[in-house]
Amino acid sequence: MSKEIVLSGIRATGNLHLGNYFGALSKFVRMQGDYDSMFFIADLHALTTATDPDLLHANVKNIIAEYLAAGLDPEKATIFVQSDVPEISEMYLLLNMHVGIGELMRTASFKDKARKQLGIKSEGDDIEKEIIGNDSNKRVSAGLLTYPTLMAVDILIQKANKVPVGKDQEQHLELTRRFARRFNSFYGVDLFPEPTNFDFGGAPVKVPGLDGSGKMGKSEGNCIYLIDDEKTLRKKVMRAVTDEGPKTPNQPVSQPVENLFTLLQLTSAPEIVQQYRDAYADCSIRYGDLKKQLAEDILKITLPIRERILDLRNDDATIARIVKQGAEKARERAAKTLAEVRHIMGIRPFA
Ligand code: ADP
Ligand code: TRP
Repeated sequence: MSKEIVLSGIRATGNLHLGNYFGALSKFVRMQGDYDSMFFIADLHALTTATDPDLLHANVKNIIAEYLAAGLDPEKATIFVQSDVPEISEMYLLLNMHVGIGELMRTASFKDKARKQLGIKSEGDDIEKEIIGNDSNKRVSAGLLTYPTLMAVDILIQKANKVPVGKDQEQHLELTRRFARRFNSFYGVDLFPEPTNFDFGGAPVKVPGLDGSGKMGKSEGNCIYLIDDEKTLRKKVMRAVTDEGPKTPNQPVSQPVENLFTLLQLTSAPEIVQQYRDAYADCSIRYGDLKKQLAEDILKITLPIRERILDLRNDDATIARIVKQGAEKARERAAKTLAEVRHIMGIRPFA
């Protein structure tokens, strides 16, 4: 029996942080040998928000180095760059014919990003008017609007069954399933499987930030990066937001402190987590000790990865070889699906 196809990607918008690592990359590494795996760098998606060409190119290289350094193995998984597969761009045009502007405008990620670009703070729905009215330097691009079409194509063109992503990507995955169903039923075919998220049994993780907020994210400025050096990392952890400490036994834990426990749970042994939970419950906890422990345990994971990133970043030949090999494999399957889609839609040769 052929293996199920797993596919996922990360946008080339900067260095990878612990959120990307625990939410996505570490899952890729764990599953790569058990599935027909494909992992890519979404550089076309990065173009929907980033505009500096040199930075984009550097970010793509960075993420390839980070993928490899974290343990992705080109012998086990196909590793490729999205723009190296031009079939994706053509199918994006074709699929867009079956996607509604309305459903794209209602997507949460679009509304968030459009609001940010337009400088709108309120959650009110006057956003459509603003979008239609702005055509100069504040314009919201058609590329940003059609982000979910492009993501659906990444997945459908490889006929992927499983897509390991964090919780924030669930809506995009839901749209992908909807587009797949719509295409299949419109043309009366059974071309695309409906992909589902993937995690190892538990709920998808949400890695919290160090600033007491709910989510670690590139744009939030609250990240620990895989590439952080020892000193930087310790400093960030020691500065993490806490509170004045528990005053009564078994007092409820505040959000910033719960965040530190969540990070500890991801990086430390269960006995250690329990030891600090107990210390919190009996009010003997010292946040300074908890932070030292946390920094130590994060460093055990990230430092070896950092070393490998630094080596790989300078190894252009290895990077070029790996993405070339990955693009060949990704294109082979993509070309087959695109040929089917063209035929189904009526784009057919005369001879
Ligand atoms: P960011 O939010 O920092 O811009 P991306 O949107 O590029 O990161 O996310 C790449 C992958 O990492 C996605 O699968 C996303 O769900 C996951 N991810 C990002 N941040 C977190 C987080 N704090 N916790 C869990 N997963 C995350
Ligand atoms: N939208 C995803 C993110 O922001 C990145 C992405 C693009 C992706 N295409 C994909 C993820 C296809 C999984 C499958 O993280």
